[in-house]
Amino acid sequence: MILTLKQASELLLSGEVVAIPTETVYGLAADAFNPLAVEKIFLTKGRPSDNPLIVHICSLDQLAELTPAIPASARTLAEAFWPGPLTLVIGKRPEVPDIVTGGLPTVAVRMPDHPLTLALIRLTGPLTAPSANRSGTPSPTRPSHIADDYNSSVDILDGGECKIGIESTVLDLTSKPVKILRPGAITAEMIQHKTGIETMYTPDDQKDLNKSPGTRYTHYKPKATVRWISRIPGQFKESAYYLLHSDTPGDSEGSENVISFSGDFSLFAQKLYDHFRTADWLGCSEIIIEDLPPDQFHPLLPALRDRISKASGGEQSDYARGTQD
Ligand code: TXA
Ligand code: MG
Repeated sequence: MILTLKQASELLLSGEVVAIPTETVYGLAADAFNPLAVEKIFLTKGRPSDNPLIVHICSLDQLAELTPAIPASARTLAEAFWPGPLTLVIGKRPEVPDIVTGGLPTVAVRMPDHPLTLALIRLTGPLTAPSANRSGTPSPTRPSHIADDYNSSVDILDGGECKIGIESTVLDLTSKPVKILRPGAITAEMIQHKTGIETMYTPDDQKDLNKSPGTRYTHYKPKATVRWISRIPGQFKESAYYLLHSDTPGDSEGSENVISFSGDFSLFAQKLYDHFRTADWLGCSEIIIEDLPPDQFHPLLPALRDRISKASGGEQSDYARGTQD
């Protein structure tokens, strides 16, 4: 069912789960301080419960409810980037239920940049939410994706299509130097430029995988096999779905399985998961993606590379455990 803001807040306060819009992807939300409600998130998604969740807030006062002492770096980053696609991992208060943090001594927090969800959190208090996909499908960026995943059995606060389309940057403020655990639309360069904080990103570091357990599972995977190609082929197979960042070759004009973003990487990110789902819906056996340019700068390139590599089972495949988030 599509809910009004009031219905969504009443359901959440009574311990139910509701799918909520954010600027990145839709989340499956519950009251962060109600462990039974949070358990329903894991049951609904079919997600392993050692995987910690992000708590979504609408004010710095709410941040103080989650952490014993707001670190100075968190305050600086919050001022620079919130509301926005940046998640901060900080020490947690004992009141934050273990089921939210997967038993870790830290909690991941962000203030999402979506007016409806900010209004909702003002009514409900902090809401914890993973991406709203059923475990094993790509993150949802439109209400119809959620309806498809759960046969319309999950209630949705409809906030339209997500602007960014890729999950938030996750930053671990408890490590020195500060570590990027998951790349997103807020990059190391933007953080350095706006706050002077230096960060480190080591995608293959096993210690980081243990620190951010969500990254251990194979993520973002459609049913079709995802692979990179370095050169656009002369002919396009009907059984494959093509995502190209350069211009579409003239003879593929109008083909539903050949998509070109003509250098618009923001649009590529916004539509990536939507295309993964369309490829599966069309029954394509492969999703073939043109290699991203190594020498070009665009803030979304590191995040796009990360998600596509994980979807392809590429560099991360050794860590895959067969479960998906
Ligand atoms: O954009 C987003 O971040 C979306 C929207 C809904 O906010 N949420 C999202 O949640 O992507 P999820 O659960 O799919 O991913 C959360 C990530 C996982 O990689 C998880 O391991 C990491 O954040 N994480 C959560 N709590 C953590 C903690 N205490 N320490 C380290 N990593 C943590
Ligand atoms: Mg997820």
